Amino acid sequence: MSSLTTLIKARVSANNFDSAHVMSPSEISDLITVAGEAPTSFNQQNWRAIAVNSAEGKAKLMGLAYGQPKVGDAAVTFIMVGKSTGYKDLPQMFASTVAAGTMPQETLDGMVGMAEGVYGSNPAMQRDEAVRSASFAGMTLMLAAQDKGLASGPMIGFDPAGVAAAFGLTADEVPVMLISCGNAAPGNWPRKARRPVAEVVSFA
Ligand SMILES: Cc1cc2nc3c(=O)[nH]c(=O)nc-3n(C[C@H](O)[C@H](O)[C@H](O)COP(=O)(O)O)c2cc1C
Repeated sequence: MSSLTTLIKARVSANNFDSAHVMSPSEISDLITVAGEAPTSFNQQNWRAIAVNSAEGKAKLMGLAYGQPKVGDAAVTFIMVGKSTGYKDLPQMFASTVAAGTMPQETLDGMVGMAEGVYGSNPAMQRDEAVRSASFAGMTLMLAAQDKGLASGPMIGFDPAGVAAAFGLTADEVPVMLISCGNAAPGNWPRKARRPVAEVVSFA
């Protein structure tokens, strides 16, 4: 088994975190740097993370997450934020690629037109893309944490409107999920069983 498969199988959703563990801003940023390697549609990179690591921030977020103790205990809880209008940012996202001559301006112009066609008049697709991008980044973040010996716990148990208001999300941003991260404390569940692969895969 490759080390990546071993890592993937070792990850579990943790509930219990060492409340004495503190992560430095650079340790936190290292995780986000790896998460940034996750793919996004058109490379629009339409997500960001709010790292809630202060006592005040944790208390505020824990209240909005129905009191889930891991938000208070973990070194950091990330609010994974997806942006529904990221397709409008393509010129900015590709500016350095065009400037370096790696991509011709006409190719970028074509992508901008195509993205407008895909998302421009389709709010459901815009929101789907926000959720997809933040979710890919979230999974990548959890594996990056696992690789550093850290535990993680994803959550959708929170008040989305409350989180958006309390943490200053803009109207085109979606709070997709929370991910607590830090050193595990004892008592977490072992890995849970998965459905047999034959139930999950079909061939066509
Ligand atoms: C999108 C998503 C939302 C989740 N929300 C919560 C949550 O609010 N609270 C919680 O304790 N666990 C939550 N979980 C953890 C799941 O219960 C857990 O991933 C699942 O039982 C499988 O266990 P494992 O992650 O250890 O393999 C969530 C997981 C995902 C992927």
